[in-house]
Amino acid sequence: MTSTLRTGILGIGTRIPDNVLTNDDLARIVDTTDEWIVTRTGIRERRLLSPGELLADYGAEAARRALDNAGVPLSEVDLILACTYTPDRLCPSLACDIHHRLGPELGSAAAFDLNAACSGFLYGLHLADKLIATGTHRRILLIALENHSGILDFTDRSTCILFGDGASAVVLGPVEDGSDSGIYATCIGADGEGTAHIQLLHDGPMHPESPHARNDGQPYLRMNGREVFKYATRVFGVALDEVLALAGMSTDQIDFLIPHQANMRIIRAGAERIHIAPERVVMNIERYGNTASVSIPLGITDLLAEGRLKKGDTLALVAFGAGYTYGAAVVKW
Ligand SMILES: CC(C)(COP(=O)(O)OP(=O)(O)OC[C@H]1O[C@@H](n2cnc3c(N)ncnc32)[C@H](O)[C@@H]1OP(=O)(O)O)[C@@H](O)C(=O)NCCC(=O)NCCS
Repeated sequence: MTSTLRTGILGIGTRIPDNVLTNDDLARIVDTTDEWIVTRTGIRERRLLSPGELLADYGAEAARRALDNAGVPLSEVDLILACTYTPDRLCPSLACDIHHRLGPELGSAAAFDLNAACSGFLYGLHLADKLIATGTHRRILLIALENHSGILDFTDRSTCILFGDGASAVVLGPVEDGSDSGIYATCIGADGEGTAHIQLLHDGPMHPESPHARNDGQPYLRMNGREVFKYATRVFGVALDEVLALAGMSTDQIDFLIPHQANMRIIRAGAERIHIAPERVVMNIERYGNTASVSIPLGITDLLAEGRLKKGDTLALVAFGAGYTYGAAVVKW
């Protein structure tokens, strides 16, 4: 199969919740302090969906903003790919719920969900890039979105302090002839040894033996933070080396590194290992916490809003997550 088309990010749109939960707010719910959370993670506050809000509405809003930004009409979209591990419900897919909200102008565009946890956006970008490069699809709405407030256990201080919610969408399509922008390389990988260390459990027939069972019918997250920390700091460099080799580039050609925002200490350790200056590393975990699949497009959104991202800049994107999974990409803006 020959790939003749380079995929570009034609537009981006983000919708984060208005509801802010600060570390001091959390200290009134669990035994923690602002100082502990800031020192161990870098997080000061996060945005969470309010009770009754649906992720599908956030996804549809982010998608409309991305289409506006790209100047692409809804009728041209031929695939909606929703990356999430926290959908409103398992079936039908969140992508189909978003399809419904966007309306009949979408026609029969395909729609499905992809779950690679915090690596979701990069798994989605990897897949979408191949679908566009081969001419299989022409306009893909790739939407990363998470609702942690629906799955966090607010009696478990080791996890409930970490996560935030939101939605961010990109419109992908072939770049114009002669343009040097677009996706230069992507890579994805997984390590099933990690399955024990981050789990979204659900009381019920699949896990009656779970030692953590709460028996209240609600899904809940459990994590072995120390193990995840070790994996994350290691895979960060592995994934970047892999994708830079595929792109035929070196670290000094990267204008901005946008890492998954899991923990400020993981990001700093990873950046030091690959010798990239701190001012070239995007960090917004302070304001949003870990938004899982959303954190990388949210980083792009922030860079654009701050006026720092210029046409022609080269971005390296890297993420890891439950599974374990990892992904990386090199994109010229
Ligand atoms: C979760 C994480 C912040 C915990 O930081 P840590 O330095 O590893 O802390 P530990 O788990 O070793 O816990 C140290 C102590 O702090 C306590 N603690 C845990 N959460 C706390 C909180 N919110 N407030 C106060 N104390 C807390 C623990 O109970 C433990 O106490 P003990 O020593 O008396 O047993 C860190 O391990 C981490 O970020 N891991 C990666 C998680 C991640 O990236 N997940 C997403 C992947 S996409």
